[in-house]
Amino acid sequence: MNGSTTPLLTLRGLSRSIGARRLFEVGELVFPRATAIVLTGQNGAGKTTLLRMVAGLEPAPGATVHWTGENAAARSAPLDPLPRELRERIAYLHQHPYLFRTSVRENIAYGLHARGLPQQEITRRVDEALAWAGVAHLQDTAPERLSGGEVQRVALARAKVLEPELMLLDEPTSSLDGQAREQVIALVRELAAEGRTVVMICHDRDLINLPGVVRWKLGDGILDTHHR
Ligand SMILES: Nc1ncnc2c1ncn2[C@@H]1O[C@H](COP(=O)(O)OP(=O)(O)OP(=O)(O)O)[C@@H](O)[C@H]1O
Ligand SMILES: [Mg+2]
Repeated sequence: MNGSTTPLLTLRGLSRSIGARRLFEVGELVFPRATAIVLTGQNGAGKTTLLRMVAGLEPAPGATVHWTGENAAARSAPLDPLPRELRERIAYLHQHPYLFRTSVRENIAYGLHARGLPQQEITRRVDEALAWAGVAHLQDTAPERLSGGEVQRVALARAKVLEPELMLLDEPTSSLDGQAREQVIALVRELAAEGRTVVMICHDRDLINLPGVVRWKLGDGILDTHHR
């Protein structure tokens, strides 16, 4: 099978209960390659919990993850803890991103330093990400001085600079309006157009209705991946 037709990831046995209440139960969840997906559902449906489980940020007892490793080898493992090989391929963006109290540039460079890349390569990639997100003029600014839209764009740049294949965005436009919201929508579109798989939780009509977007809906404990 060729690489573009195999799914990016498949998860099996994803379920979460809160006390005696079953929040959701998903038998199998396939993440296609190069696809923009919007995840909708009422408040409290479990959208954030679901994406955090996928990112390895919440316990996921019993769930398994299946993917294609090197040399097209079929790989599988428990989802929790998230296999190291997948950790670098998945990025999760919190609804209210937390930025370190250094500069914008240092925030974007952080993950590249953690990966031990050479300084020259880090500088090049950070410059590119700053320009992409339209925040180059803010690179020396302290994050606490940024507007909400600027924080979202820096957080998107910080994630993108690590070149993840799967980006999980929790309501990226929910705290924004006007031009700030438009700018973030444009960046999300670009991420999807670049061939990444982007799953975004949202209630924003403009994002939900973007052309070519796949719709997933979580409700009554069931994830409908053929929602129209
Ligand atoms: N650690 C926890 N302990 C207890 N309850 C929790 C925990 N985490 C989430 N919940 C509950 O699980 C349910 C789903 O929460 P979640 O944040 O995933 O929903 P959501 O679909 O993202 O909602 P929203 O649209 O409001 O963001 C909620 O009822 C929430 O209160
Ligand atoms: Mg949520």
